[in-house]
Amino acid sequence: MTSSTYLEGVRDQYEDYPYPLRDPNAEKTELRPTVLEFLDYLNFKCFRGEQNYSGFRALVAGGGTGDAAIFLAEQLRDRDAEIVYLDISSASRKIAQERAQVRGLDNITWIQGSILDLPEMDIGRFDYINCCGVLHHLESPVAGLMALKSVLGEKGCMGLMVYGAIGRTAIYQMQELMRLINSGEQSAQTRVDNTKTLIKDLPASNWFKISEKLTPADHINHGDAGVYDMFLHQQDRAYTVPELFEFIAQCGLEFVDFAYRSRWRYQPRTYLNNSPLMGKLEKLDARKQYAIAELVAGNIFVHSFYVSRIKDTVASLDDLDNIPFFSMVNLDCESLSREMQKNPSRHVVLSPSKNINITLPKGKYTHLIFKYLDGKRSLRKIFKKIKKESGKSGVTDIDLLSDFAPTYQSLNDADWLLLRSPSARPIKDFAQMQEPVSRRYQGA
Ligand SMILES: C[S@@+](CC[C@H](N)C(=O)[O-])C[C@H]1O[C@@H](n2cnc3c(N)ncnc32)[C@H](O)[C@@H]1O
Repeated sequence: MTSSTYLEGVRDQYEDYPYPLRDPNAEKTELRPTVLEFLDYLNFKCFRGEQNYSGFRALVAGGGTGDAAIFLAEQLRDRDAEIVYLDISSASRKIAQERAQVRGLDNITWIQGSILDLPEMDIGRFDYINCCGVLHHLESPVAGLMALKSVLGEKGCMGLMVYGAIGRTAIYQMQELMRLINSGEQSAQTRVDNTKTLIKDLPASNWFKISEKLTPADHINHGDAGVYDMFLHQQDRAYTVPELFEFIAQCGLEFVDFAYRSRWRYQPRTYLNNSPLMGKLEKLDARKQYAIAELVAGNIFVHSFYVSRIKDTVASLDDLDNIPFFSMVNLDCESLSREMQKNPSRHVVLSPSKNINITLPKGKYTHLIFKYLDGKRSLRKIFKKIKKESGKSGVTDIDLLSDFAPTYQSLNDADWLLLRSPSARPIKDFAQMQEPVSRRYQGA
């Protein structure tokens, strides 16, 4: 690792203040998810639902204190998979390694090095690359993303996070303010202390003060490391939605979608559902809609999204061999089915999150689809059951598919209902993954 391929000031920051702040002992009781690494969702979005994660290689570039590496390694624990962690900060790596040790994970390879050295590292190609909160701290984010691309497999994809410019408006004012106040100050700790002193005394009219309740509160939740990361970073840039798409195109990559359960943030209808303007907005190109939503919302601090080398990576409803399954939702499909049958005219309203309500568009056969939707049967098998149950009505797979499509679309827009191929083994749920780890420490 030569200092020409990373910024020394950035390395020093993460040696002194590993970020995010993590306690390895917390692993004994809790598995911490990362929005980009829900592997069932990654499979659905980026691998057409066909990825069984066997022989799978993932790179976590700028892995920090280990969030993504640990979540990936835990989900892939019993598969033939390798996770490679890379970071310039040894202090951050040590925390990540301790976390892996507490969990008893041995499927991570640890490398101290710079993203920009990847093309020369001879570490093979990866099916998936995570790079979360790192590219915007490089002198050239484009050079960083191109270096990642150089080790991405032919059908590989990346989960990236970069800062959002609109949401961080007040943070950049604070950074400018702290540069003026801390000018000539050599001690990192004094710069942090000055920042904390100032925040306490800010008037109510200050833009950061006005918007503080909307910020992710890293300066509170991550102690001095959070204060440094948010207000004192020497190398930090952010992207608007149009800039984001320009960045991706510059590197010759295809945008896939935003991360799990964050797509609603980029939909104007989330904020303007009852506005008379909605009819006009929904006719606009999707990317224009995302840009409008970002400006309307005002609080998108980060953009977490997937890119791929190739197009058309999402599993398709038209492939009847695919299995529809609910992701991280405990929905009793059979009783919902009975309810629908008893009250065919009543709307079913589901609430995937406090920001979203889905009024389920119900087709003629929706109650039957729900009756047989068990996360194991393919669409073909579900349809076969329905055809048998509806007797000689002559209903075809095409009829059933077009009947189900709007229901699927609504549930899929909220990332509730996904698809996978029968060859893809489902990922264990959180309780199943944490239970053996917690058991080791019970009574200790
Ligand atoms: C804000 S932290 C994010 C950590 C982690 N990705 C996460 O999301 O929790 C940025 C990380 O990028 C690392 N980093 C910065 N420049 C790097 C480079 N050129 N190569 C590898 N890692 C780098 C830092 O050491 C730090 O751990």
